[in-house]
Amino acid sequence: MRPFCYKTVYAKKKTRLCRVGFYMEKLIVRPCGALRGRVGIGGSKNAALPILAATLLCEGPSLIGNLPAIRDVELALAILSGMGVAVTRVDRATYELNTNHAFPPAQPDPLTGRMRASAYLLGACLGRFGVGRVGCIGGCDFGGRPIDQHIKAFVALGATVSVEDEAICVRADHLHGAAITFDTVSVGATVNAMLAAVRAEGETVLRNVAREPHIVDLAAYLNRCGADIRGAGTATIRIRGVKTLRGCSYSVIPDMIEAGTYLLAAAATQGAVTVMGVDPTHLSPLTDVLRKMGADVDCEERRISLFATARLRGSTITTAPFPGFPTDLQPPMAALFSVSLGESRVCETIWRHRFRYVEELQKMGADIRLQGDGACIQGGQLHGAELCVPDLRAGAALLIAACAAEGESVLHSPSYIERGYEDLLLKLRALGADISAV
Ligand code: EPZ
Repeated sequence: MRPFCYKTVYAKKKTRLCRVGFYMEKLIVRPCGALRGRVGIGGSKNAALPILAATLLCEGPSLIGNLPAIRDVELALAILSGMGVAVTRVDRATYELNTNHAFPPAQPDPLTGRMRASAYLLGACLGRFGVGRVGCIGGCDFGGRPIDQHIKAFVALGATVSVEDEAICVRADHLHGAAITFDTVSVGATVNAMLAAVRAEGETVLRNVAREPHIVDLAAYLNRCGADIRGAGTATIRIRGVKTLRGCSYSVIPDMIEAGTYLLAAAATQGAVTVMGVDPTHLSPLTDVLRKMGADVDCEERRISLFATARLRGSTITTAPFPGFPTDLQPPMAALFSVSLGESRVCETIWRHRFRYVEELQKMGADIRLQGDGACIQGGQLHGAELCVPDLRAGAALLIAACAAEGESVLHSPSYIERGYEDLLLKLRALGADISAV
């Protein structure tokens, strides 16, 4: 098969930006009854994005497999391509990235403003070039999304950080190891510190780090390239800097949030769905709650099956860094609570303002009261409504609610959902959802 050159296609389709995605204006969802069947889960968005940035640190090509066909991955490939990385598609989910001729951006790429993970270019560019620039970092709007902990790590490693012409600039003549204790557990700051420290001189000890599976995956990729990172998945990571890293072949872990979303959709419609190709240990905070609510959940080595023959009982969740309940499943879980029996409570400890979906669910008749950092939800029957998708996981929540509601729902601005869910319509339809895109 002739390799597909990402750069050429991107250049031809500048106005459309994305190769796999398409901009949907609205989604029409009609009641479908129980969702049933099996669904294959793609690669993890939040693992793929740091790994793509990390390829910049390596000499020679990296072959990255199990990349999800989603908008954010397309953006990441486009941004890297604009920095001189030769991006070649090998097959649907595998890309070769050769960074031998990569260069640091003289001006920040405007595309960096479209997603949060652009921040990872700062750590990766520091490690590779000693200088990096990104524009105003984008991503879902949950109120403030500070990067003080990223900056704390860069400065401790010997870099200077400044804001120039609305761009964030990092520079270092020499990166050296450091002992850094984060004030708060942050996925992004942990990633950036790892990216900058991996080629710094000497040992770096990172304490109070994020322990998410995507942190472990990034460490596994970098170690395969020749890095010396120990402790990923625990609260302390130790990194011994190395002079060179060599690209390698690597396959991204499955997306636990995508898998969790389909399990929640099955539970809300009283269905029976098996998510295939997942790591059940990543999802135990969710499956534990679903079992308490009365669902029959069966975990095997690479799959999870959920059966719900009646409305589930309400429950309580408190979001927390891994291994706590994932904040990214909080909105879809609230959709399930809205159609469960009795009262449920949600306490959001990570993104205090991640409740923009509430107003939309209320249009469907959901009985939700916001209280401080949380919500109290009285389960009942939802009805179809005209809805506006405010962000990625809120979109997933509204889709679940629409599948479980009586009557037709119309979701406006659904393209947010394409940022993080691969083949969403195809997968939902295969499970029996009545959903069409305009
Ligand atoms: C990552 O965002 C994910 N994004 C988010 O997923 C996810 O919600 C979040 O981690 C938490 O799991 C990507 O991986 C691309 P954080 P990130 O830094 O790294 C505070 C999705 O839907 N904080 O772990 O930006 C911050 O305010 C997206 O897929 C600081 O105070 O999140 C928050 O309260 C949305 N200072 C908490 O830490 C900092 O310097 C966790 O944020 C950094 C963060």
